[in-house]
Amino acid sequence: MTQSRYWQFQQRPDAKITDDTFGFENRKLDELQEGQLLVRNLVISMDATNRLWLGEREELYMEPVKLGDSMKGFGLCQVVASKSRLYQEGQLISGLTEWADYSVLDALLVQPFSYPDNLGMAEAFGVLSIAGPTAYHGMLNIGQPKPGETVVVTAASGAVGMLAGQIAKLSGCRVVGTAGSAEKCRYLTDELGFDAAINYRDEDFSSQLAKACPVGIDVQFENVGGAILDHCLSLMNNGGRVVICGLISMYNSDQNVPGPYMFHNSIMKRLKIEGFVILDHAAQFPLMQRYLLEWMDAGLLKFRVNLHEGLECAPEALRSLYNSQNDGKVLIKLTDPES
Ligand SMILES: NC(=O)c1ccc[n+]([C@@H]2O[C@H](COP(=O)([O-])OP(=O)(O)OC[C@H]3O[C@@H](n4cnc5c(N)ncnc54)[C@H](OP(=O)(O)O)[C@@H]3O)[C@@H](O)[C@H]2O)c1
Repeated sequence: MTQSRYWQFQQRPDAKITDDTFGFENRKLDELQEGQLLVRNLVISMDATNRLWLGEREELYMEPVKLGDSMKGFGLCQVVASKSRLYQEGQLISGLTEWADYSVLDALLVQPFSYPDNLGMAEAFGVLSIAGPTAYHGMLNIGQPKPGETVVVTAASGAVGMLAGQIAKLSGCRVVGTAGSAEKCRYLTDELGFDAAINYRDEDFSSQLAKACPVGIDVQFENVGGAILDHCLSLMNNGGRVVICGLISMYNSDQNVPGPYMFHNSIMKRLKIEGFVILDHAAQFPLMQRYLLEWMDAGLLKFRVNLHEGLECAPEALRSLYNSQNDGKVLIKLTDPES
């Protein structure tokens, strides 16, 4: 029987994740049943949405994590034993797994994962699994940016934001990002080629934003919500598109948050406002991944990864998304694949 360390969901957070939210435990895994895989978790993605799985909201796009269960996350895993004809021992797969050394997964709920030699395993997983498809689908299929238009991306130096902004640049747009520090803003303009970047913590944020968008906003790629979204809604042009990718400023609360206060502009500016869950578009991932890889190969798409070493780091790594400590895609690496 396989023994595995894992992070157990032990106490529902009232707001921010605390030291009591998870406990580091050991368990023996059950014997494999038909159709199941025993996997070694290699890399686990830390996603803003993980916090929502710990709440009590009824409206969620998937089953929340139950108290007492292992914490879940999207992961890159290697098959150690298989009771499915779909996968063999040694194969790499990706899908919803656990914050654990080993997990038992349903073979029907995972996908094979491969990556080119010129990309590291963690970086490839970081771009291709969730962040890249989210940025691609949200920006191109929903935002539909046209050359010359102005695009604003919030949480722009994060995993999804940095890719969404660069994809809008590839579409020939003027791209403005918002982020929580001068250093993150510098990264956006100096290294990723954003036309402007504004620190939302600056007192004169709204006037800086208006100055950076002198002819208004055509596409708003929203990752944050709250006051920042309202400032952007007030600058939207007629026929603008508002892509509701995420509302991270609200995830630490189970209460409904008032606003947006500038919703009025959805009519006055004839806006198209559309939210999405990227998991609904998994069938299109191979196509999106091909484009993402091509742009990366051509040096047109840059990406940075915050790699934390070891399963022990998982709670702290997740918290870094909420206290603005991350500089890019947050992943934890547990181990290398065995050949
Ligand atoms: N719709 C989908 O299917 C889908 C899929 C993946 C991700 N998403 C969404 O995409 C967004 C980004 O997720 P990610 O995983 O890529 O994380 P990320 O952007 O790498 O990290 C989160 C960032 O959000 C910013 N932030 C956190 N709390 C904030 C607050 N109260 N106000 C303003 N900014 C705040 C922080 O940056 P600063 O330093 O700038 O504060 C932090 O670095 C999230 O809203 C997430 O839910 C949606």
